[in-house]
Amino acid sequence: MTGQVLFITGAGSGIGQLSAKRALAEGWKVAAIDVNQKGLDQLGNSPALLKLVCDITDARAVEEAVARCETELGPIFKLVNAAAIMPLAEIMDQGRDTIHKIMAINYGGMVNVSQAALPRLLARKQGQFVNYASMAGHWPILYMGAYNASKHAVAAYTEVLYHETRNSGVRIVCVCPPIVATPLLEQARDCWPKIFDVFPPITPEDVLDAIERKLKGKGLWVFPGPMTATSWRLRRWIPGLVWKIVHRIEKR
Ligand SMILES: NC(=O)c1ccc[n+]([C@@H]2O[C@H](COP(=O)([O-])OP(=O)(O)OC[C@H]3O[C@@H](n4cnc5c(N)ncnc54)[C@H](O)[C@@H]3O)[C@@H](O)[C@H]2O)c1
Repeated sequence: MTGQVLFITGAGSGIGQLSAKRALAEGWKVAAIDVNQKGLDQLGNSPALLKLVCDITDARAVEEAVARCETELGPIFKLVNAAAIMPLAEIMDQGRDTIHKIMAINYGGMVNVSQAALPRLLARKQGQFVNYASMAGHWPILYMGAYNASKHAVAAYTEVLYHETRNSGVRIVCVCPPIVATPLLEQARDCWPKIFDVFPPITPEDVLDAIERKLKGKGLWVFPGPMTATSWRLRRWIPGLVWKIVHRIEKR
């Protein structure tokens, strides 16, 4: 993959930042997108690195970022949507503006990036598309209603896209991690679900290793971590049991 181009959002922190660092170390050219300039600066400087401060809710800015990436680095081979926010609260306490903002970034921003860049990969009939949903895109949890809704939307979009483009030559995966030790969790400090303490966080490295294994194989869903695929099946087959577990753990 040396010399191939990665376009990645959320590259200023957590899993996205590690992903960008790994790609640079492996010889990829990387367009690193984030609203967080300081986080992007932590990636260092290199002719193979294009750092772009860009808010993914701004569709025009996203289109410009995609065009700049292809002009300055070359055709995008791997497209990764990792940017997201996760403020938590009970739905009735969260406030309309915050709920809309979570959907605008986590789902709307992903749509902006995908609609701008993915047609280029499809036209070339090759490449990789990695979308970050979450186990929260399958398992609803108290205090995570707005985030749950945004990640269910990402999961649905990606699942349909996967089937609509299954003969396109572009490999599509949807990543559904459980809790991962990254700065994202800081956004939940004021309203920490007890269930987060029951399942110890996995590492960003675990997530990236699971994605790489999946990209080499078949199928859509990536469930990093030991119990994640089982939890997904539980939710599909016995949803009532999942809610019993959630209520018992949260003591509500
Ligand atoms: N950490 C977890 O527990 C966990 C679990 C499951 C899924 N995920 C998903 O994995 C992905 C990566 O999460 P992370 O844990 O590395 O998070 P993180 O908070 O460490 O990084 C997210 C990055 O997205 C950027 N961002 C936020 N809004 C943006 C916007 N409007 N435009 C551009 N960039 C923006 C932030 O500045 C930040 O650098 C996310 O999609 C997240 O929902 C995370």
